[in-house]
Amino acid sequence: LAEVKKIFKETDKYLDQIIKVGGWIRTVRTSKTFGFIELNDGSYFKNIQIVFEDHLDNFEEIAKLPISSAIIVEGKLVATPEAKQPFELKATKIEVEGYSTTDYPLQKKRHSFEFLRTIAHLRPRSNTFSAVFRVRSIAAYAIHKFFQERGFVYVHTPIITGSDCEGAGAMFRVTTMDLNNIPKDEQGTVDFSKDFFGKETNLTVSGQLNVESYCMAFKNVYTFGPTFRAENSNTARHAAEFWMIEPEIAFADLEDNMELAEDMMKYIIRYVMEHAPEEMEFFNSFIDPGLFDRLNNVLNSDFGRITYTEAIEILKNSVENFEYPVEWGCDLQTEHERYLTEKVFKKPVFVTNYPKEIKAFYMRLNDDQKTVAAMDLLVPGVGEIIGGSQREERYEVLERRMDEMGLHKEDYWWYLELRKYGGTRHAGFGLGFERAIMYLTGMSNIRDVISFPRTVRTAEF
Ligand code: 4AD
Ligand code: MG
Repeated sequence: LAEVKKIFKETDKYLDQIIKVGGWIRTVRTSKTFGFIELNDGSYFKNIQIVFEDHLDNFEEIAKLPISSAIIVEGKLVATPEAKQPFELKATKIEVEGYSTTDYPLQKKRHSFEFLRTIAHLRPRSNTFSAVFRVRSIAAYAIHKFFQERGFVYVHTPIITGSDCEGAGAMFRVTTMDLNNIPKDEQGTVDFSKDFFGKETNLTVSGQLNVESYCMAFKNVYTFGPTFRAENSNTARHAAEFWMIEPEIAFADLEDNMELAEDMMKYIIRYVMEHAPEEMEFFNSFIDPGLFDRLNNVLNSDFGRITYTEAIEILKNSVENFEYPVEWGCDLQTEHERYLTEKVFKKPVFVTNYPKEIKAFYMRLNDDQKTVAAMDLLVPGVGEIIGGSQREERYEVLERRMDEMGLHKEDYWWYLELRKYGGTRHAGFGLGFERAIMYLTGMSNIRDVISFPRTVRTAEF
């Protein structure tokens, strides 16, 4: 259908020709002698209107088909210049490929997103989720295109890891051990030497440490894959399984990192607006009326930039009543992030140079010895969408930071070696893909931008 629409617009090639379309019925309306079907074939956001008349042998059967039945229609494509759609299909033959039943849960009315989550296997057939998941697909392609056009090498980092990238401990354990009979030593400590890998392993929280290895070979690299966090935070922005894009660039510092992040975000927005115009129009009309203004504004301005210290000053001087009080040294909460980006800047803003105590061990220590070269990108409506930093490339400083933070250096021996054999200045960041999709579509819950969400106590489907 998408193809027909394109060609139809350009050359009228299919006009008055007999074509064949397979799709699912969205609605059927009939009178005694003729009927209309809104058919969606999945290749295009909008439906095609089928007109069928009682000269079809199976007219009665077709007229009674429940919504979501799958049919194959043969017919003549005719122009309908006065109607909403530029064309309709006058059926000469309709075959039923798969019957539906009248208890099909997605009837033609507005369903709440909460209800649709309980039928996650059917929701991609609704308008909203059809739009979300096509945009998600196009955005993923845009991201690969952006990095590939710049010569970045795509690295597939492992899902199962033996090290904790963020040092936050929110990891899912991977084991083949019998939970009812776990081998322990005399002290009662679990003996992982008996486990499949012979050591404790987890699902990755980030591909960064691995991708840094490849950065020291290819200079510009990125990963794009699933990551897992067992954070017990039941919010609209946290998922236990989410996808992350993590570029890493060598001979580069925090400024280069911010420039790359800004270029990437603008590229994705532009690409999606251009390649999913019907879907984006839908979001702007029905989900988030300010969406186009906001995205166009982003394309036409520079992102804001402030240091963490400046951000704390702004927050302390604001008249807003925050639930969490602000002091230099505290982590920014969602309410603070949203205040900065929605009330103060009214556009995306980078916050840089956070206190070392609240950031990961690998971030480069600044000359003040108190802050690290970190950058978070905050955006209106979502809050933190990117977390990144310049990395600590100085062997001794990195070692000292690991000691200070109580990490087992033995576990990171290979990561330390990257600093020993020609380590360069380098930087990188992680973009949360679901949060990016929320930002692009105006959808307000992370559960509604990932096909089968995994969150606290939810792993159905
Ligand atoms: O800020 P984070 O924890 O940074 C890292 O993992 C770095 N290793 C990335 C890097 O420098 N290569 O996570 C990066 C982003 C966040 O800004 C957020 O968008 C997303 O990942 N994110 C989550 N998205 C959904 N659910 C969660 N539980 C998330 N945790 C982080
Ligand atoms: Mg972060």
